[in-house]
Amino acid sequence: MNAVKRQTNKQFVESFHLGNPFNLDNDKAYQLWREIKLENYPENVADLIVEINNPAVLTNTELNDIQARLLKTNMAVYAGNTGNNADKNIPVKLTEQFGLSELDANVGADDGITSLKVVSGRERGTYVHYTNNAIQWHTDGYYNALEQQISALFLHCVSPAADGGENALLDHEIAYIHLRDKNPGYIEALMAKDVMCIPANIEKKEEIRPARTGPVFSVMPDGNLHMRYVARTHGIEWKKDDVTQTAVKTLKTFLASDSPYIFRATLQSGQGLISNNVLHDRSGFEDAEDIKRLLYRLRYYQRLANT
Ligand SMILES: [Fe+2]
Repeated sequence: MNAVKRQTNKQFVESFHLGNPFNLDNDKAYQLWREIKLENYPENVADLIVEINNPAVLTNTELNDIQARLLKTNMAVYAGNTGNNADKNIPVKLTEQFGLSELDANVGADDGITSLKVVSGRERGTYVHYTNNAIQWHTDGYYNALEQQISALFLHCVSPAADGGENALLDHEIAYIHLRDKNPGYIEALMAKDVMCIPANIEKKEEIRPARTGPVFSVMPDGNLHMRYVARTHGIEWKKDDVTQTAVKTLKTFLASDSPYIFRATLQSGQGLISNNVLHDRSGFEDAEDIKRLLYRLRYYQRLANT
């Protein structure tokens, strides 16, 4: 991965001169960024995994190995040896080493950390994250206010399910490349501020969250690309024009394909995902009497430091 890091430094230096590659008017910057991005892009989920010893204090080598993967693919999987230790400090201490501190306090996150597990009962039963059902492709926080978008997503596995619970993962910058290469007009459509609306969340006649309208792709103030997306067909309103409809269909087809850019992993005890909120889904799963899936989810408004 050292080669990866060198390329990314080169990318930074050159694209600094050429301007932002996500600007549709700047094809030169885009083509250079694209070429460097795709060169030596990992082909196997094993390429994303970094073994770590003490998650509270990563060694320089461990930190550099994770950082190199984040720079290339916006994600890395760490494999620690904490087993099914359910201490929430394990992921918290890890996230701190990536400069993260602004946890998103979403529904169900008692202390900013969400326990993803099967919960029976009325309160959480309506949220798919607390069931064992499959979850479609999305980025986290697509229903958040535009000024509170999720830039970094951490998952830490305490215990995998007895069966299933696999995540598919796709770097959102690869999704951008796929669409822009097919038709830059798709990107233009998906960057429109009114392209995707998530209607208000209303329970028992009470509005829990207002409707959220915003773009799929946006360029953050630091110049990085952000993606806001969910593949579901109900509870979402897309702009009705032809180019938007075709762009959404093209993205959906890509996500359902067997593209080598889509990685699949079932996190095991002590393993976790560090990411700049990449696209992901989750397959359905089954718990057993003595094996119950438990993952901690931490979401941040900040991007991972130095990526
Ligand atoms: Fe998610």
